[in-house]
Amino acid sequence: MRIDILTLFPGMFVGLTGQSIIKRALEAALVEIELWDIRDYCLDKHHSADDYPFGGGAGMLLKPEPLYRLLEQFPDNAHVVHLTPAGEPLKQKLVTRLATAERLVLLCGHYEGIDQRVVARFVHQEVSIGDYILSGGELPAMVLADAVVRLIPGVLGSSLSLQQESFTTGLLEYPQYTRPTDLRGDRVPELLRQGDHGAIARWQRKESIRRTLQRRPDLLLTSSLNKEDRKILLQLLREEGNNHASHDPTPGKGNAEKGFTSFQTR
Ligand code: ADE
Repeated sequence: MRIDILTLFPGMFVGLTGQSIIKRALEAALVEIELWDIRDYCLDKHHSADDYPFGGGAGMLLKPEPLYRLLEQFPDNAHVVHLTPAGEPLKQKLVTRLATAERLVLLCGHYEGIDQRVVARFVHQEVSIGDYILSGGELPAMVLADAVVRLIPGVLGSSLSLQQESFTTGLLEYPQYTRPTDLRGDRVPELLRQGDHGAIARWQRKESIRRTLQRRPDLLLTSSLNKEDRKILLQLLREEGNNHASHDPTPGKGNAEKGFTSFQTR
């Protein structure tokens, strides 16, 4: 796969390409990432990239000419994605689809957005990484690129871990532990250490369902629960009804496990 990223701030991407899994994927030539500086295509005297919107309104827009010059160069098989808060929400299912593209072009907007003619002529898809406004499309492009690259065969060690992870199963992942078994009295659940693989699988499934129920009940509507899962869910709902303080596998000050942490407001 090849990913071309069009941005006014190519320097922001050193964090994406210079570290960890993406760095190794680049070194192994499993992916190619090319950065294009939009400013290099701003050919007026002052190399200005933005202009005022017709009809007024707050802020500036990215000018269309540099983007036309840039986007005209890409071949027909390139799938052009514009990162914008007005786009389709990025979910794992969309990531999976994008990961099958031969060539992705990620267009990072800035200022208040881009001239709509660029979208109409060149963009195949607009994508948002969440319901909040960032100062540009660079972080969203990095999020998308990271999510896509790790799905390229050979980039991650094991495809089992991909199959089991949250959003592939439709549920949040269960809690996990590593050594030591006892850390200042904080113990790894006994059952996980006894080697009964059936019991462990049932515990993991139950904890996945518990987490999903506590944190993202909306996901339960679209996840594929079998008969056994539905029994677990009913049992958890009954427990929840009986004691409002929910189960906490690792006792301590942290209360994230009990659901979302609330903020103190003034
Ligand atoms: N640009 C600014 N905010 C964004 C978001 N939430 N998603 C995608 N692009 C953006």
